Amino acid sequence: MTAPLTIRTGRVGSRIAGVGSYVPHRVVSNEEMCTMIDSSDEWIQQRTGIVERRWASDDEPLTYMVAQASRMAIEHAKVSTDDIDAVIVATVTHLKATPALAPILAAELGLKDPAAYDISAACAGFCYALAQADSLIRTGNATTVLIVGAERLSDLTDKTDRSTAFLFADGAGAAVVVGSDTPGVGPVVWGSDGTQANVITQTEDFRDAVPTATMPTVYMDGKPVFRWATTFIADAAKDILAQTGLDPEQLDVFIPHQANNRITDSMLRHLKLPEHIVVARTIKSFGNTSAASVPMAMVELLKSGEATSGQTALIIGFGAGLVYAGQVVVLP
Ligand code: ACO
Repeated sequence: MTAPLTIRTGRVGSRIAGVGSYVPHRVVSNEEMCTMIDSSDEWIQQRTGIVERRWASDDEPLTYMVAQASRMAIEHAKVSTDDIDAVIVATVTHLKATPALAPILAAELGLKDPAAYDISAACAGFCYALAQADSLIRTGNATTVLIVGAERLSDLTDKTDRSTAFLFADGAGAAVVVGSDTPGVGPVVWGSDGTQANVITQTEDFRDAVPTATMPTVYMDGKPVFRWATTFIADAAKDILAQTGLDPEQLDVFIPHQANNRITDSMLRHLKLPEHIVVARTIKSFGNTSAASVPMAMVELLKSGEATSGQTALIIGFGAGLVYAGQVVVLP
């Protein structure tokens, strides 16, 4: 007879104990953008809400940005680096298939032998990582998880493509997730639709690009993404609230992926969120930073005092795949 396996049991719930971010130094204004594409400051602001974005310089590699954001999150969480037993990095712009960025980050931070891996879920990456951290803690497979969403999308952007160049940007956001007797991370609602894989994709595989030595850039057909985000994703956001057992009135903060202010406005109408709710609008100064956008926005809201520790926030990410994920969290 097969011997029964011993399994672990974990904590009742998890919570975000601290967050951090890294904002690259170089500001690229809409005016500068329009030297690269045929566009205007007015069009970009009206159609997206973006006024400026940050593009990382050569001395700000992804390894540096994730470490800086993580150090800030660890300090905010007041945990010892010795306690971190898992590291998850969500990114689509770590340009090496192997090794993953997470173990490199763990070594840079001096962590002791944590589980470490990357996930590729585009703009939903941070919410995917948070769902995994929550599950690891509740199953007893980890106690303290460092999650990071980070991108250097400027490396994969065709600066002359007027359908993407003005949108994509760089940055990093991190969070430390710990066990909690009072759950501070609600159930994730997530999914994917691979039949639409072609609407946001790289122009070619790296292998095909090698002979011509051109970097494959991100191609996006914005319209179907916009439609999907304002219908299907808005419904998913409603579902998150329902599954968490919260009415819109009980929510304090809404942090959608910063893809386009018009998508955010449409979601607000769809969700019928009350007036008092604080809404993240960091797209104005940071552009679309994919996996980094939700944690970067969370840090900015806490830093400015618009949101405070203990408030409940609905977070949701969506993007290339197409994939999406979101949950309600208690802010650290
Ligand atoms: N500057 C000026 N005019 C432009 C530009 C530009 N950069 N781009 C397009 N236009 C023009 C078009 O030529 C068109 O002109 P016409 O009416 O004379 O034909 C007009 O503006 C409208 O073009 P649309 O493509 O319909 O522009 P739209 O309003 O759809 O906005 C945008 C484009 C901003 C990309 C929008 O579709 C969008 O935000 N989509 C969602 C993007 C998203 O959420 N992505 C998910 C995450 S990304 C990731 O996963 C990495």
